Amino acid sequence: MPEKEFEPKILGFFCNWCTYAGADLAGVSRLQYPPNIRVIRVMCSGTVSPHHVLRAFQKGADGVLIGGCHIGDCHYLRGNFMTIKRIRFLQDLLKFTGFEPERLHLEWISAAEGPKFVETVRNFTEKIKKLGPSRLKQVKAA
Ligand code: FES
Repeated sequence: MPEKEFEPKILGFFCNWCTYAGADLAGVSRLQYPPNIRVIRVMCSGTVSPHHVLRAFQKGADGVLIGGCHIGDCHYLRGNFMTIKRIRFLQDLLKFTGFEPERLHLEWISAAEGPKFVETVRNFTEKIKKLGPSRLKQVKAA
């Protein structure tokens, strides 16, 4: 019996004003993207705390994608500057613990960038497929 291809579980935290609207535009435009992503809408990417990201990995996510407004477009002025700091901190922390930092990705996607949303989800899904299942998931299953 052929082995099933690994289908990663990806969690997306998307800012309400830009990336979530971009995802909506992709849907309305009937653009297709991998069904591996589950989305949590947040008011600003800056509201996603490191705790949320670590908890997602702990609960079995193979990858976490954070989407927000382009720099200068954040509806809360400096929210996405906070996001940059947190992502860098988290990627360093993941690397320090021996976990692949590539499993966490940040992308600025505006409400008008439906095709960019699709491309981002496709590329990230492919990257996570190449990395394979999260080791945290394997530890949990053991
Ligand atoms: Fe979109 Fe802040 S409101 S990143």
